[in-house]
Amino acid sequence: MKKNIIVTGGAGYIGSHTVVELINCGYKVIIVDNLSNSDISVLDGIEKITGIKPDFYNTDLSDKIQTAKFFSKVKDAIAVIHFAAFKAVGESVENPLKYYSNNINSLINVLEAMIDNDIKNIVFSSSCTVYGQPEILPVTEKSAIMKADSPYGNTKQISEEIISETIFSNSKLKSISLRYFNPIGAHESAEIGELPVGTPNNLVPFITQTAAGIRNELKVYGNDYNTPDGTPIRDYIHVVDLAKAHIVAIERLIDNKNSKNFEVFNLGTGKGNSVMEVINTFEEVSGEKLNYKIIERRKGDIEKIWADTSLSNEVLGWKPEKTLHEAILSAWIREKKYRNIK
Ligand code: NAD
Ligand code: WQD
Repeated sequence: MKKNIIVTGGAGYIGSHTVVELINCGYKVIIVDNLSNSDISVLDGIEKITGIKPDFYNTDLSDKIQTAKFFSKVKDAIAVIHFAAFKAVGESVENPLKYYSNNINSLINVLEAMIDNDIKNIVFSSSCTVYGQPEILPVTEKSAIMKADSPYGNTKQISEEIISETIFSNSKLKSISLRYFNPIGAHESAEIGELPVGTPNNLVPFITQTAAGIRNELKVYGNDYNTPDGTPIRDYIHVVDLAKAHIVAIERLIDNKNSKNFEVFNLGTGKGNSVMEVINTFEEVSGEKLNYKIIERRKGDIEKIWADTSLSNEVLGWKPEKTLHEAILSAWIREKKYRNIK
């Protein structure tokens, strides 16, 4: 049996897929989550896939006392993967304090508890949102960090600073910050996926919900961008590929293979696809005709971004294996299973 790993936010979308990969690699996983954006039934999904139900603690990590209590109960954890955060960009603009309070306090409480309990390794969920609209594409880890477009984006920038400054003052701690591009798709079993709480903000869950009849039509936010088909370009990465990168990152820290105590890696495919390409791919893999309408641009959207993945490919030795087709098909299969659609 390999070591114990704490996964904060492990009941969530990316967290649950990472828990599956950790269990498949022989780790004992301890999930801590307050279910603010997830459902306890995800544990059943994880058990169906792996045969193991991970330990689960319902704890609000933005609460210092609850966090300290949780860490004091968990013995012999060797690392933390910190997913727990709020992630809705628009909501963060409406209610910035909700985002600063949850995302920043949770991180501080987790770091303090790690220091108190002598846990040295933390992998942090960062985002391509830290780059804003880069001037040069593809975007590398050395690209400029632009002023954040939203309080959510700012929490990711501030979190990276908090981690790197804490590490500077405490040489025992080590961290890898993973900057995700656009995670999509679901586990091949369709037992877990992206939990559709409320109206989705993101493109792929909106597409699958529209095709499933939950939404009337997909609104395509603008086709007058400076891109080949006029719709914005993103780097869509299969969530299972993303999950696997966390194993590589955590083992790099545990095995002391890191070259600095704070490292940053982009996690994307290195390839950009437009909104229309995503829609066309969905129609192709599902055989469904999607009801969509082009409307005006969404405020705050950037035109195009995709990752330079040289560093994660060469230094982490990680490469995504799944195609856009596979990712979109897996999202559709999961949607149908969740909705009992044949
Ligand atoms: P998610 O909402 O599905 O998962 C986050 C989990 O954290 C949820 O289960 C939620 O209940 C939990 N949580 C939130 N606040 C908590 C708290 N105070 N205490 C305990 N648990 C708490 O989101 P996700 O898509 O899986 O994202 C995971 C991480 O990756 C987040 O940090 C997010 O910002 C980051 N990220 C996500 C994306 C994306 O597009 N999904 C892209 C880049 C970065
Ligand atoms: C993708 C494209 C939309 C919905 C967000 C966060 C970012 C990161 C990833 C966390 C855009 C278009 C979308 C719809 C549409 N998350 N679209 N109709 O905006 O790249 O990034 O998720 O860190 O921080 O901002 O992802 O999936 O919302 O949009 O036309 O109903 O799809 O305009 O071009 P985005 P998205």
